[in-house]
Amino acid sequence: MGFAQRAMCVFLLVVTALDISLAAVYKVGDSKGWTSIGQINYTAWAASKTFRVGDTILFEYNKQFHNVMQVTHLEFQACNVSSVINTFSTGNDSIVIKRTGHFYYLCGIPGHCLVGQKVDIRVPKSSEATAPSPSGSSTASPAGSPSLSPPGAIAGAPGPSVKSSAPYPSSKGLVALLLSLVVVLGNETTQDDPDGLD
Ligand SMILES: *[C@@H]1O[C@H](CO)[C@@H](O)[C@H](O)[C@H]1NC(C)=O
Ligand SMILES: *[C@@H]1O[C@H](CO)[C@@H](O)[C@H](O)[C@H]1NC(C)=O
Ligand SMILES: *[C@@H]1O[C@H](CO)[C@@H](O)[C@H](O)[C@H]1NC(C)=O
Ligand SMILES: *[C@@H]1O[C@H](CO)[C@@H](O)[C@H](O)[C@H]1NC(C)=O
Repeated sequence: MGFAQRAMCVFLLVVTALDISLAAVYKVGDSKGWTSIGQINYTAWAASKTFRVGDTILFEYNKQFHNVMQVTHLEFQACNVSSVINTFSTGNDSIVIKRTGHFYYLCGIPGHCLVGQKVDIRVPKSSEATAPSPSGSSTASPAGSPSLSPPGAIAGAPGPSVKSSAPYPSSKGLVALLLSLVVVLGNETTQDDPDGLD
């Protein structure tokens, strides 16, 4: 028979497809995390990623020495925290990207932004084509899974520089999903026929 095996295969395919097309977790600074020490170039770090709506930005740091503040573009440029949009301070902050555009974060501890602890998360418009369904609360806690494969691996998969000529950048996952469904449905209908002759 092997139907169960095929079903399991399809299930894994679907899970993989969803993973690729919907959600990546990007830890800011990768293994170095969010810090003012070591002159990490967060501009270069952000430039190496392709952020999409639904992805998660993870700030991991020692909360005794750092924090995360979302600010406007002007304040970002000036390292000025006089009117902060959002403040995060748990030391392990997951922020789900809800829309396209720029998101400016810096460390609000005096001096840290000036030495480079600031990051501009740019989410390009082309990702709107594959935005996940609205009001889906299932993406609220993607950090719940402890040790997934490193985000860098996922980021490298689609290709380094996405040209604007590609209208549906991550539809591969959806295609795989639909193909899997076709396969399993085709077999289900041919096998689930108890009235068949022996
Ligand atoms: C950080 O990286 C960006 C992009 O690679 C580069 O343009 C910039 O000069 C770098 N900044 C520093 C301080 O090295
Ligand atoms: C920060 O911005 C506020 C309001 O825009 C301004 O009054 C203040 O002088 C700025 N602080 C610095 C250190 O630039
Ligand atoms: C951050 O939170 C996630 C779960 O939300 C956990 O798996 C991870 O170990 C935490 N990291 C630190 C440094 O506490
Ligand atoms: C269904 O499974 C059989 C083997 O059991 C295979 O020969 C057939 O090609 C499958 N049908 C489809 C639509 O994949």
